[in-house]
Amino acid sequence: MAILVTGGTGYIGSHTVVELLTHDFDVVIVDNYSNSNPEVLNRILKITGKRPRFYQIDIRDEEKMRDLFIKEKITDIIHFAGLKSVAESVAKPDLYFSNNVGGSKVLLRLMDEFGIKNIVFSSSATVYGVPDHVPLKETDKVGGCTNPYGQNKLDIEYLLKDYASAHSNANIAILRYFNPIGAHPSGLIGEDPNGIPNNLMPYVTQVAVGKRPFLNVYGDDYQTVDGTGVRDYIHVVDLARGHLYALRKLAEKPGLVIYNLGTGRGTSVLELVHAFEQANGLKIPYQVAPRRPGDVDENYADCIKAYEEMGFKTEFDVVDACRDSWNWQKNNPNGYK
Ligand code: NAD
Ligand code: UD1
Repeated sequence: MAILVTGGTGYIGSHTVVELLTHDFDVVIVDNYSNSNPEVLNRILKITGKRPRFYQIDIRDEEKMRDLFIKEKITDIIHFAGLKSVAESVAKPDLYFSNNVGGSKVLLRLMDEFGIKNIVFSSSATVYGVPDHVPLKETDKVGGCTNPYGQNKLDIEYLLKDYASAHSNANIAILRYFNPIGAHPSGLIGEDPNGIPNNLMPYVTQVAVGKRPFLNVYGDDYQTVDGTGVRDYIHVVDLARGHLYALRKLAEKPGLVIYNLGTGRGTSVLELVHAFEQANGLKIPYQVAPRRPGDVDENYADCIKAYEEMGFKTEFDVVDACRDSWNWQKNNPNGYK
């Protein structure tokens, strides 16, 4: 009886593994370290007192994955493994399709072969494309993705829907994450991007630690409270907890279910910068830059379904997330390296 966590040494995966181990789940991680570091396993041990079983495998390697399934008695899968850089996906669409969609196909074939019924999948709010209203509900239209990464997420959602149609005993939770930020309050695990961060919070923390001189605020003429883009920032520990709620839901044999995981509240770029300054007593220099292609004015979740059907609600706010992101960054200025 073990939970297989693909991509379990990554940012969201590592926080989820900590929650699983803390709640006495038996955890097996598979990761190829394409965007993570073996040091994560030592940090997980420090936090939880437990070292999960680990396999360094590319999930597309069907033979090695089959050996893993023969060795381990897997009952549930949480599937995080994937490449996630929007810009890289535009430059390397074949790699993204092969890794993200191809890797998911291998997992589904092995689920079928080994009679594994339950899977939780990391989808994204990006599947809603350019929203014509907020907050976004799970029943709102999807599609119109502006980059291969987003299209991969949608393709995998459709693969899962087809799999559910063909396997009446399969239980599948598609979780559409909004914007995860923050880090474990211990400061031992957190987000460790390669190179120049694309996302807002890791950029802010790198400005705070002196690695970058200032933040570029991409556009101040959006139709929002202060002209800067509004997003739904969810603390990564809350997001990680959401996966335990999803596993509990799957135990009720619901078939295929879809949930937004966010806070239901929008925060602008400048509001986030000010929350960071307030939480940490620091000043973040910034300058307004042109809009970033593909960005939307506002994007935040309607979270009622996750609450009504799973009892899930967030416990942390953006100020907590700003404190914890900074605690991680200042204790690990070079991430895990
Ligand atoms: P991450 O890059 O930190 O973690 C992904 C992990 O998967 C990494 O450890 C990487 O080494 C591993 N991996 C990638 N391809 C693999 C393969 N073929 N075989 C084995 N391991 C592989 O990313 P994250 O932020 O933790 O995101 C986890 C999942 O959540 C991803 O699927 C991502 O698309 C999705 N998601 C993330 C966000 C976000 O903002 N972070 C938002 C929405 C959805
Ligand atoms: C981005 C991706 C999205 C992906 C998500 C999580 C794009 C267009 N979208 O979403 O597909 O699912 O990350 O990985 O890349 N901002 C700045 N300065 C910065 C960085 C960001 O002002 O240096 C602004 C952005 O314009 C946006 C907000 O901060 O308004 C949040 O940006 P980001 O963290 O990149 O998340 P998303 O744009 O929501």
